[in-house]
Amino acid sequence: MTADDPTWAAATRQVRAGYTAGVAQNTVTVPIYQSAAYEFENFQTARDIFALRRTGNLYSRTGNPTNTVLEQRVASLDGGLGALATASGQSAVAVALLALARTGQHIVASAKLYGGTVDLLDDTFADFGIGVTFVDPGDVAAWRAATTDATRAWFVESIGNPTASLPDLAALAGAAHELDVPLVVDNTVATPALLRPLDFGADIVVYSATKFLGGHGSSLGGVIVDGGRFDFGARPERWTQFTRRSARFGLTFLTDIDGSHYLAYAKAKLAHDLGPALSPFNAFLLVQGVETLDLRVRRHTESALAVAEHLAGHPAVTVVHHAGLPTHPDFRIGQRDFPHGTGSVFAFDLAADDDEVGPFIDRLRLFTLAANIGDVRSLVVHPATTTHSRFTAAQREAAGITLRTIRLSIGLEDPRDLINDLDAALAAIQLQEAVA
Ligand SMILES: Cc1ncc(COP(=O)(O)O)c(C=O)c1O
Repeated sequence: MTADDPTWAAATRQVRAGYTAGVAQNTVTVPIYQSAAYEFENFQTARDIFALRRTGNLYSRTGNPTNTVLEQRVASLDGGLGALATASGQSAVAVALLALARTGQHIVASAKLYGGTVDLLDDTFADFGIGVTFVDPGDVAAWRAATTDATRAWFVESIGNPTASLPDLAALAGAAHELDVPLVVDNTVATPALLRPLDFGADIVVYSATKFLGGHGSSLGGVIVDGGRFDFGARPERWTQFTRRSARFGLTFLTDIDGSHYLAYAKAKLAHDLGPALSPFNAFLLVQGVETLDLRVRRHTESALAVAEHLAGHPAVTVVHHAGLPTHPDFRIGQRDFPHGTGSVFAFDLAADDDEVGPFIDRLRLFTLAANIGDVRSLVVHPATTTHSRFTAAQREAAGITLRTIRLSIGLEDPRDLINDLDAALAAIQLQEAVA
């Protein structure tokens, strides 16, 4: 039984890719290799692995056999050259971008991103001397205009959190490449079950595996996938981390490394130095999640559309930000690029006053108030006071969020129960308004 086969369908690869039973103990399911270190065969092998002359397990900060299965499986589902698993989505985004942009350089990013990513780019990257310009993800001219000679990445979410904005990925990839910039896509909300960014010309894909890949809300994790097609050698002076000989490693990543030189650099330098290692136990749980990815995502997506359609017809709701609704500005992109639907994380605005958001959320019985998405359970959160709480009013406006915006992540419960729960909470605040 081979570990992967390009002719297999996604449903086969999500269960099989990256693992061959019998490698170690004949276990059918992926074993948890709970080991910090690895015994080297001999002195020379240790030396060669450390010098990157030979691949092999070195120390679990830079690689672990259980994590490797997760990496290969996600890379296979995305059609990528390889992947690197990290401890969280946040570290995946950080490492993916730090491998491209260094002090004095610059990133152009969508203004419609998960709040934690904005914190990272706007605050911590500023501390590192990396500039970031935020633009409307739908305005390709704005991406071009924000790009300077120092720009080393464009960063966008394929389904924006929380207003479900959909960028035109093919148009963005084309424009980025004209400017010699790689396109990095956070595909957390879509997952490869709904969209494969590499198929649209993106170069690097990142995930918070904590969400739909794992799917059960139990384990943090992140994955970076390299498509392997961005030509860092075309303008070598722009990518000296790959094209110049590294004194530290004694090699040139672009020419001396087989496979992804981008990931080899990210792993040998950033994963090694910064230490955002994924625990093998979490990798095991995330692999279990990936094995049912398409089934879960299909159900999440169908239920979310049913809930969104219901809310769109409710008098206590002013707007529903779900790209499966014809009223959403990116509906056309959804119909074209997302044949299996536009996911299950979306937001809506209450017609009530700002101070009724709290009572509405507290009245929900089935939705769990939690700052997460992509769980089997349905979750609710108020972005302006939690996930996006550090946004200024201008940042909120650019992200399409108001003080009355509520984000839902639709789980696997029966959608009729979810609708009943929302209806009961909406009716309660309507009643309160009528009395007042
Ligand atoms: C789209 C997106 N990217 C990245 C992250 C960060 O992932 P993690 O929480 O696994 O660090 C999140 C978390 O909510 C997210 O929603």
